[in-house]
Amino acid sequence: MAQENKSLHWWQRGVVYQIYPRSFLDSNNDGIGDLNGIIQKLDYLNDGTEKSLGVDAIWLSPFYPSPMADFGYDVADYCNVDPMFGTLADFDRLVEEAHKRGIKVIIDYVPNHTSDQHPWFIESRSSRDNPKRDWYIWRDPKPDGSPPNNWGSFFGGPAWTFDEATGQYYMHQFVKEQPELNWRNPEVKEAMLDVLRFWLDRGVDGFRMDVVGLLIKDKDLRDNPPNPNARPDLPENDIYGRLLSVYNEDQDEVHDIIKEFRKLLDSYDDRVGIGELWGPLDRWIRYYGENGNELHLPFNFRLMWQPWSSKAMRACVDELEGALPPFAWPNYVLGNHDQPRLATRFGGQAQARLAGMMLLTLRGTPTVYYGDELGMENGVIPPEKIQDPQGINLGPERTRDVARTPMQWDSSPYAGFSQVEPWLPVSADYQTRNVVAQSQEPNSMLNFYRRLFWTRRRSQALCEGAYKPVDLSGSEPDDCFIYLREQGGERKLVALNFAGQPCKALTGLTGRGRIVLSTHMDRDEEIDLSAIELRPYEGLIVDL
Ligand code: NOJ
Repeated sequence: MAQENKSLHWWQRGVVYQIYPRSFLDSNNDGIGDLNGIIQKLDYLNDGTEKSLGVDAIWLSPFYPSPMADFGYDVADYCNVDPMFGTLADFDRLVEEAHKRGIKVIIDYVPNHTSDQHPWFIESRSSRDNPKRDWYIWRDPKPDGSPPNNWGSFFGGPAWTFDEATGQYYMHQFVKEQPELNWRNPEVKEAMLDVLRFWLDRGVDGFRMDVVGLLIKDKDLRDNPPNPNARPDLPENDIYGRLLSVYNEDQDEVHDIIKEFRKLLDSYDDRVGIGELWGPLDRWIRYYGENGNELHLPFNFRLMWQPWSSKAMRACVDELEGALPPFAWPNYVLGNHDQPRLATRFGGQAQARLAGMMLLTLRGTPTVYYGDELGMENGVIPPEKIQDPQGINLGPERTRDVARTPMQWDSSPYAGFSQVEPWLPVSADYQTRNVVAQSQEPNSMLNFYRRLFWTRRRSQALCEGAYKPVDLSGSEPDDCFIYLREQGGERKLVALNFAGQPCKALTGLTGRGRIVLSTHMDRDEEIDLSAIELRPYEGLIVDL
């Protein structure tokens, strides 16, 4: 096997593992996960041996002081740790302990909005002539008293809340407790660049930047046009869903700000900027910068919502590979704290294994969401236990709580996550779907993921190699996605059968290869490359 390739940056070679701190491990028994809990589990993530998962970087969702109106995405102090999660000293220890194990630490940066309890906003709303008034987006009502424009909040209702005391509306595209900063004000920019410096100086290795495409809005805050394709069954308060996002996001001037983020990151050694960005491919690609001078990795969510079909997945990958300029490094995400669990979304455990193999073997940086390595499925949240403002405002079927249930460590009460009742219910399957149980079962999802991570880590071709899709004509049934990854004389083939029935994939290749890993974990034989036989939902990594 080829050695780990050192010429790539860590954020290209490595796998990012997203931790939702509230839900990972509760070390002080208050029902909520915390930083010390994460420290306790670092060896699980990577102790340098194949007994651990082998992650290269962790991304922590927000742990800052927050009233938790949006579970930490409403930040009241950018440069501290909420006591619920620990202290700054705990954070420093987390970075130190992670680094000892070769794990990089990426933190969430929430630049678009603060909490309404942030001292900046408290000042800003105190009077119209407060020096911080212009740090947020305040506008007069229309003559009839209605909001300044027609924009809606992603979480339902209008994007504006009226402040009686000062007689103006402030903007918030999430809950009203998340007022939006005015990035056209240079003081805001400076203060928020200082936040980056604060954490960079503390040794963090990078940032996942929340909704960066929203930072700049249309100068005139024009009304968004109606969305002709809006679903007819949207809840009445879903104003956002009925409009096209023309003026509230992805404005050209936002790129100037992102270039400044990049310049700052580049003034340190090898730190990474990852951005949460949606939108069509041609607009999304611009966030890499004209010559790679913006984000290292604009998150690529495109595979997440593809139908379960090899053709759809391949088309999505081919389109990306065809569109990326040479300096732009690809990346793929299949799950996070805002989306249903991938095992549920793609239809089951067999599909989840196959999706995991695809995620870890495509060219580009994979991000894996905590618990997906166990095949965790959507939690069942009784309506009265829904916590997520999106679920509360837009209906239980929209709640993101389903993907935020406690990590399942063992079969003890509360899954070893906590000794007390956790903030969200533990999933019903925890007695069998947990780290201890799956560690003892050789072919479990967890052991599959461990093999997958380490196979990737050890393979220059999988980390770095070119991606070459293989055309399959005349295969029956034709629901396979097959590609080659090649680098420095090492060649790997990945064959993925998306069908729930066996497939014989006619590849046009010749010769034989040896199976390195099957999703079913029961084959390591040599195979004939011209006609690759795959069982239902089977994926193979093959050494050529
Ligand atoms: C995106 C985050 O991923 C999500 O959880 C949050 O609610 C919004 N941004 C607002 O910060």
